[in-house]
Amino acid sequence: MSVVSYQLEGDIGVIRLNNPPVNALSHALRSGIKEALAQAQDDASLALVLICEGRTFIAGADISEFGKPPMLPSLPELLNVVEAFTKPIIAAIHGTALGGGLETAMACHYRCALATANVGLPEVKLGLLPGAGGTQRAPRLVGVKAAMDLITTGVPISADKALSIGLIDKVVEGDLLTSAIKFAQEVIAQGDVIRRVRDIEVDKESALDDFFADCRAKLSQRYRLQEAPQRIVECIEASMNKSFEEGLKVERRLFIECMNSSQSAALRHMFFAERMSSKIKDLPKETQLKDIKRVGIIGGGTMGGGIAMNFVNAGIPVTLLEINDVALQRGKDIIAKNYAMTVKKGKLTNQLATQRQALITGTTDYNDLADMDLVIEAVFENLDIKKQVFAKLDNVCKPGAILASNTSYQDVNLIAESTSRPQDVIGLHFFSPANVMKLLEIVRGDKTSDQVLATSMAMAKTIKKVPALSRVCYGFIGNRMLRQYAREAQLCLLEGSTPQGIDTVMQNFGMAMGPLAVGDLAGIDIGYKAREGLTDEEKGDVRTYCIADALYDMGRLGQKTGAGYYQYDPDTRQRMADPVVLEVIEAQAKQRGVERKAIDDETILQRLTFALINEGFKILEEGIAQRPSDIDVVYVFGYGFPAYRGGPMFYAESIGLEKIYQTICEFGAIYGEEFWQPAALLKQLVEEGKTLTQWANSQ
Ligand code: 3HC
Ligand code: NAI
Repeated sequence: MSVVSYQLEGDIGVIRLNNPPVNALSHALRSGIKEALAQAQDDASLALVLICEGRTFIAGADISEFGKPPMLPSLPELLNVVEAFTKPIIAAIHGTALGGGLETAMACHYRCALATANVGLPEVKLGLLPGAGGTQRAPRLVGVKAAMDLITTGVPISADKALSIGLIDKVVEGDLLTSAIKFAQEVIAQGDVIRRVRDIEVDKESALDDFFADCRAKLSQRYRLQEAPQRIVECIEASMNKSFEEGLKVERRLFIECMNSSQSAALRHMFFAERMSSKIKDLPKETQLKDIKRVGIIGGGTMGGGIAMNFVNAGIPVTLLEINDVALQRGKDIIAKNYAMTVKKGKLTNQLATQRQALITGTTDYNDLADMDLVIEAVFENLDIKKQVFAKLDNVCKPGAILASNTSYQDVNLIAESTSRPQDVIGLHFFSPANVMKLLEIVRGDKTSDQVLATSMAMAKTIKKVPALSRVCYGFIGNRMLRQYAREAQLCLLEGSTPQGIDTVMQNFGMAMGPLAVGDLAGIDIGYKAREGLTDEEKGDVRTYCIADALYDMGRLGQKTGAGYYQYDPDTRQRMADPVVLEVIEAQAKQRGVERKAIDDETILQRLTFALINEGFKILEEGIAQRPSDIDVVYVFGYGFPAYRGGPMFYAESIGLEKIYQTICEFGAIYGEEFWQPAALLKQLVEEGKTLTQWANSQ
């Protein structure tokens, strides 16, 4: 069936697009629209309506065509034809009109939308800018300032808001096609029928004085090290200072620069990686989902409270179980404080915050969990305690309830064995702060049933998380890789660098925070306590944790004690270098017979990122992760890895596997083969001359 159809309804020509799932502007769609226009040119129609079938209006250009040879007509070319058309065209919007979709609507002469519709220009999130006239038409429709907000935030706005700023002309109710045809007839009746956005004067009032300089400065902070936002400013500046045609030329040049940039390639990779990560390769499509209507959470500490917030925010009632009333009250107080903060920031009304908290019931009695569809355990990170909790759950929970652990490291299979229903047990590893962080690692035990797995994946979407599947291993995907990254940070400290030296390198690379600043934020005691339960062999080489242990022994636990790898200003929490830490490092180096020498930035960067990548390859060869892009999802959504570098595995591919393999071999010779053994999969791919993508596609 054709993706575009054209029909006359009375004196209105209706162009219908039908390109599921989201009517992306593929080559077929663009050609189809052009042909429909040619047909409409010569028929009896007095006006046209452009409308979409399915769940949404056009969601943008077809991202999967980017980076491939262009196929004509290009979108800008097509939209110039739309705008120049000699009969009025009305865009009829439902669902979301995004990117090239909204640009198509702006090239039409009028726009109407259902009240439930949203419109936006999210290209910046893909390292792009609106490249089909959006940077020139939006300022003409809504003024320079509103256009700047729309394009640089990338956040869609409601139909009502769009109407109020002049982006659309009408909000309609009822059947969209009927309303759009009626609107078209009103337009015809007015006589003055063609209103081309290109002919509107740009309202310059909102962009006086230092407006553009201010935007550049703010955007360089909000999108640290990213190129597209700065190019967007240049385009919008051109809309004000140049003719429409000249502005379009500026936009085209800068769009192509963005499109060819490594940043956009990485962000586009992340767009598809995020959608792919919820797909489980060996799960039958017809797997029935369980209903999750009530959730129990055990442990109302740092994690349990945040996890509870996710569910009540989605309207799902939660029963929170703690060891005693004091602990329960403490947990509830932390939740209340978090909501109060959200209200203070203006992100939630007081009324909603109260309503959501009312969905949380506290208890200290396991019998109150009998009716839960899902129970998530978030008690202390201790296998014996967790096993006891699961044995109790096995006794009280109804058959078929999903029993989940939020453990960071423990063996989900051993936890499952403490119940009589291992098929119902799964790991649901949230990240701190659990009400904010997007990642949810879903840990599949050996006996976890398909139904439990499929339901957990769907549940992640309900609570607005990005899921990634992991098999059972120590630390799963994320923390297992993090251990190697942290190992190199510690070794670099011991061998010659400083906390600020290492953190600066990693921040300049684009990490949200450097590893030592993160250590101070999470608490140096966390790693110390995790090591307490391990044998010397499991702990690994003492050089990889001796500095952390020395700081722990001094009571320097990080931000919470005002000092760790850094010193913290008690009022502002500003971190400062601390000479005492250097003394600690030097003393440890002396004790371990390490001669400290300066380490250059490139070496620090390679040691940390290649350690991460090498472990990623091991995780793939062992089948712990399903695919490389799932690892990227884990690192971007859970660990602050810069999305514009596409996650560690995409980054590895962009550097070249051979370079990474050779460097790891060299590092083995210099820093010790006990730390640097190239993963077998990495070695194999280099020997076979294959890329990681080729390997992933062949799996
Ligand atoms: N191109 C190609 N495929 C797309 C797509 C696009 N623009 N938008 C969505 N898809 C695909 C997804 O990959 C997914 O495929 P899958 O089923 O095989 O996994 C499928 O459509 C459904 O997408 P979602 O799972 O995201 O569906 P939701 O209902 O959750 O969300 C949406 C729908 C809000 C439209 C969301 O898909 C979205 O935000 N899409 C991208 C919008 C966007 O960025 N548009 C700008 C594109 S760049 C552009 O237009 C450049 C222009 O200026 C020249
Ligand atoms: P926490 O110490 O802040 O909270 C644990 C809570 O569990 C306490 O309030 C305690 O009273 C309660 N508790 C202990 N035993 C209990 C029992 N038998 N029954 C009911 N309640 C009990 O710990 P946190 O940080 O919330 O960690 C919980 C789990 O989440 C751990 O397994 C941890 O590894 C994991 N996790 C922690 C992350 C973090 O950054 N803190 C991140 C991801 C996972």
